[in-house]
Amino acid sequence: MREVAVIGAGMTKFGELWSKSIKDIFVEAAIKAIENAGVDHIDSMYVGSMSGGLFVGQEHLGAVMADYLGVNPIPATRVESACASGGVSFRQAYFEVASGQSDIVLAGGVEKMTDGADVTDILATAADQEYEVYQGITFPGLYAMIANAHMHQYKTTREQLAAVAVKNHRNGSKNPNAQFRSEISADTVLNSTLVADPLRLLDCSPVSDGGAAVVLCAMDIAKKFTDSPIRIKASVQASDTIALHSRRSLTTLDAVVRAAEKAYIQSNLKPSDIDFAEVHDCFTIAEIVVSEDLGFFEKGCGGVSVQEGLTSLESGRIPINTSGGLKSKGHPVGATGIAQIIELYEQLQGRAGSRQVKNAHIGMAQNMGGSGASCVIHILEAI
Ligand code: COA
Repeated sequence: MREVAVIGAGMTKFGELWSKSIKDIFVEAAIKAIENAGVDHIDSMYVGSMSGGLFVGQEHLGAVMADYLGVNPIPATRVESACASGGVSFRQAYFEVASGQSDIVLAGGVEKMTDGADVTDILATAADQEYEVYQGITFPGLYAMIANAHMHQYKTTREQLAAVAVKNHRNGSKNPNAQFRSEISADTVLNSTLVADPLRLLDCSPVSDGGAAVVLCAMDIAKKFTDSPIRIKASVQASDTIALHSRRSLTTLDAVVRAAEKAYIQSNLKPSDIDFAEVHDCFTIAEIVVSEDLGFFEKGCGGVSVQEGLTSLESGRIPINTSGGLKSKGHPVGATGIAQIIELYEQLQGRAGSRQVKNAHIGMAQNMGGSGASCVIHILEAI
């Protein structure tokens, strides 16, 4: 396998993009990425999207986006793994370059969720229909069960959940592409509308439109396009049961644990080598559980760690979700995994502005589908 680099990135603002179609959104992100990379062509492209068909009635997104981007007749493939669609899109592009099949590949992701579709029902198609959804559960409900179990088992507190939202909104206030750019207090989180006990409105990622894209290329030609290509050190994916009740534990996400173990082996790194991470905080409890399952903190200590500032941008041992995370930056589900890679790319190039992590050399992106049945982890390194 050849070494692969990220050489360009571009994204739309995330939020309610009323005046833009799903095609406009993807093409805007893709053109920004191609211009940023300085390439005059791409050999192939991937489009991560959870459910273009259900959200806006548009399937066949590989061909649709290649057509509107004006890159026919190159191969164009849509990739789906619920909220991990973007991360898997990136991984497919990585393999295509690493295998030697192509030299320059675009990995993108897009979702248009605010056009009036029944978002909660559509998102729930990523859960187990017979055992979970037909019984009335939704994603806020599934993560509420995880939160209740974690609070029971490890004495995680409501205030610790709120600390995740406060931190991520503070980071997001520094991100011009974020959906919510206002700082919030713990009191505001604790007094926001109850969605699924114990999760409140401000514990949830929002419903969002957005697109994101990056350009990958073979490392041996990367210097033709940029002085600072970013190396992909690890690309790993794992799966778990779709239904929560089939898992050995409600408080550990085994797909995250397995993917992390393999990512550390593949990169020859350990958790303490990671300088910063973007993790899948679709709900505040998810960031706490994932930060433990990635090995950043002892099991059960994720809540107290965020409360003590160990994950803060300003002084944290490992800053988490410097982009604002899904919570504040927004969560257009198919685009999220690529947007995480973009945050890594900008941080590792030292171009993250007021969000810049000091001495950022190695970053991790963890993206997952549903309640953790699919998980993709990438480790990127500045060279
Ligand atoms: N965080 C912060 N603010 C939010 C928000 C969020 N997650 N969701 C909505 N808001 C704000 C809106 O901007 C709006 O503010 P305004 O009145 O100033 O305009 C207000 O809260 C009400 O918004 P509304 O769209 O009516 O909220 P809603 O009740 O329809 O939806 C949730 C709120 C939490 C149910 C919805 O955001 C949701 O389902 N989130 C989870 C998405 C999800 O499951 N993703 C997949 C994860 S696996």
